[in-house]
Amino acid sequence: MLTVAVPIAVPIAVPIAVALAVVAVLVSLPYWLPRRVVALRERVFARINGDEGIPVPGGLAGVDRFRELYSHPAANGRSRGAALSDLFWYWLSPGPEMHQEHLEPGERYDAVARTTRSLLAVPKAEAEELARRCAARRLEGVRGMVRLRDLMMPLWAEFAYELVFAEPCPREARDLIAANADDVVTSLKCTGLRHMDRRDRLTRYLLPRLDKVRVPLPDGLTPLEQAYYLQGAFFNTAVVQLSEGMAHLLLVLARHPEEQERARTSDDRHFDRVINETLRLYPLFGIAHRITSGDIALDEHTTIPAGSVLCFNYPEFHRAGFADPDRFDPGRFDRPAKELNHIPFGVAANRPCPAWRLAPIVMRVVAREVLDRYVLDSSVSHTRSLPSRGPCLLTPRGAPHRPRLALAYMRVRDRWEDVWRSLVQLVLGTYMVWDAHRLRLCERHFAEAAARDPAEERHPAEEGDPAETEAPTAAEAPDRTTDAPDRATDAPDRTTDAPDASDAFDAENRYAHHGRHPGSRRTR
Ligand code: HEM
Repeated sequence: MLTVAVPIAVPIAVPIAVALAVVAVLVSLPYWLPRRVVALRERVFARINGDEGIPVPGGLAGVDRFRELYSHPAANGRSRGAALSDLFWYWLSPGPEMHQEHLEPGERYDAVARTTRSLLAVPKAEAEELARRCAARRLEGVRGMVRLRDLMMPLWAEFAYELVFAEPCPREARDLIAANADDVVTSLKCTGLRHMDRRDRLTRYLLPRLDKVRVPLPDGLTPLEQAYYLQGAFFNTAVVQLSEGMAHLLLVLARHPEEQERARTSDDRHFDRVINETLRLYPLFGIAHRITSGDIALDEHTTIPAGSVLCFNYPEFHRAGFADPDRFDPGRFDRPAKELNHIPFGVAANRPCPAWRLAPIVMRVVAREVLDRYVLDSSVSHTRSLPSRGPCLLTPRGAPHRPRLALAYMRVRDRWEDVWRSLVQLVLGTYMVWDAHRLRLCERHFAEAAARDPAEERHPAEEGDPAETEAPTAAEAPDRTTDAPDRATDAPDRTTDAPDASDAFDAENRYAHHGRHPGSRRTR
């Protein structure tokens, strides 16, 4: 009997075992593949970028010296001299050389930063009212499954437009701004490639409207540079950051029903704790880098030389010194935030976010508008980079609330999307890092500027004692924001020649996208 049974059992058992193994691997994919792919992506990025950065906190300087180093007057270079800058310039194109975040210290930076402060200097009540209006318009008729980042983008697009132009945002402008901001953040997260046509359409829209901006734009900039400045700071950074911040905030509340209920009835102080804790757990910046313009002595044996790239790691700093740091607990902020390792808007002494007062105020208003209308539920995983854009179920308050099936579906879909998305991020991210490295937008910008004017070749370190650089103190910082008394509302009297500006755009945008400057013979 045995001699007959064995040859039949083996051929059947083998395919069954293989089929079971394949099923087991497939079913387990969501639990291990995304993590491995992220680790692989980091290795590929590091390999292409090189390991030029000094991580802070890290071996040279720990958490205890984080603020001191970040605030050091010599930690003031923004773009020039770091390969990492080529990557940011690539993602932020067109016009990364005019983006406030990436301008080197100097007159041009000062003029641009002044304009940003004027545009953000809106009385608190007006800012709240504007946010409330934009939220009410956007939320009309919305219900069911949404992606929170997508829900928020048009809202903040309208908000940013009205801050800049002091008039209601036309639908065309809203769509152009949201498309621009979405394209930037999608490529930054490596879930899609750049679509420069979408971004260019916004630049073209802005160019003939520069004379309608409600404060004078920085002198000494061409119309195209002014359009790039506005596009970078207000129609990219402001919209992206507020949308991402709100997606985190609403997702946290969706994942913590008891906190959601409490937030609905709580006062502003408690709401601010919720916002603080959200931005502690999910800071919008992963790493901010600075290039040192002078030596920084750490102790008698260790000096960080001029020209080093310091990489300030926000998530790591925000975890240090907290018990159970991965737990969401707004109660941590019963103590003043400045006593904690908490810098969601950067450090006051080194180019902090100019919207650091305005942003939490308007986020609170919009969150309340959402909570007044809906019960929020979500079962997706919540990570800092949030590539899922925050899937969430919005049930109108008072309507039947039975989310169990929807949440089960959302959980399974999220796990499987994670598998596909991590592969997409690996492929597209590797391509974009390689492409940015090849185009070297930042490096070539400074090389060409130096060729035109040799004085440009000098690093800020050679232009005087960095210790003399004026750094804002924490006490000064509040004047720079919402309630600043020097609010400038008078419309500037200027005569921008729109057709010329568009012509300039046609010539110059080739450089911004593809790395070729008009007049330069160099090709890629
Ligand atoms: C939740 C909302 C926001 C968060 C968490 C945030 C966070 C930050 C952080 C951490 C920095 C400093 C990065 C560094 O040290 O390199 C920064 C810089 C900046 N942010 Fe924000 N931001 C937000 C909203 C906004 C808004 C609404 C605007 C509107 C214009 C804005 C414009 C800028 C600009 C222009 C800079 C560069 C500052 C400079 O270099 O002078 N941000 N932001």
